[in-house]
Amino acid sequence: MLSAESIKKIDREIAKYPADQKQSAVMSALAIAQDEKGWLTTEIMDFVAHYLEMPPIAVYEVAAFYNMYNLQPLGKFKITICTNLPCALSGANEAVAHFRQKLGINFNETTADGKFTLKEGECMGACGDAPVLLVNNKRMCSFMSNGAIDQLLEELSK
Ligand code: FES
Repeated sequence: MLSAESIKKIDREIAKYPADQKQSAVMSALAIAQDEKGWLTTEIMDFVAHYLEMPPIAVYEVAAFYNMYNLQPLGKFKITICTNLPCALSGANEAVAHFRQKLGINFNETTADGKFTLKEGECMGACGDAPVLLVNNKRMCSFMSNGAIDQLLEELSK
């Protein structure tokens, strides 16, 4: 189901907790699985549940709660824009409009070439750098003016 390398990484996460609390590694295990597969199928979540000796429903709950987990296939680059109030007051709505216009998609849609998916995000704890966005959950981009968005899209399109 997962590569030996991913299993090794999950084992490393499990080792951070007491032996009878393997389930504490569930968020890391899901992130590792997603890094390998791109998104979390029911089969992968079931595998993680079995591996961590926890009920599958408990794994589904975690995966469904946090928007960093992809429960369906997405574009190569998932762009999550924070639209909470501090960002909204500092240009997030303009940034969203610019993405919509440049990519021709709305939230939760993927461009026809499979490259970009647009997602609406919650506060990322970087309100002072607004508007902010995340690329594939890991790369935070700050002060996303229209010019900065154009630069980002150009870089990711290469
Ligand atoms: S409101 Fe956008 S990072 Fe806090």
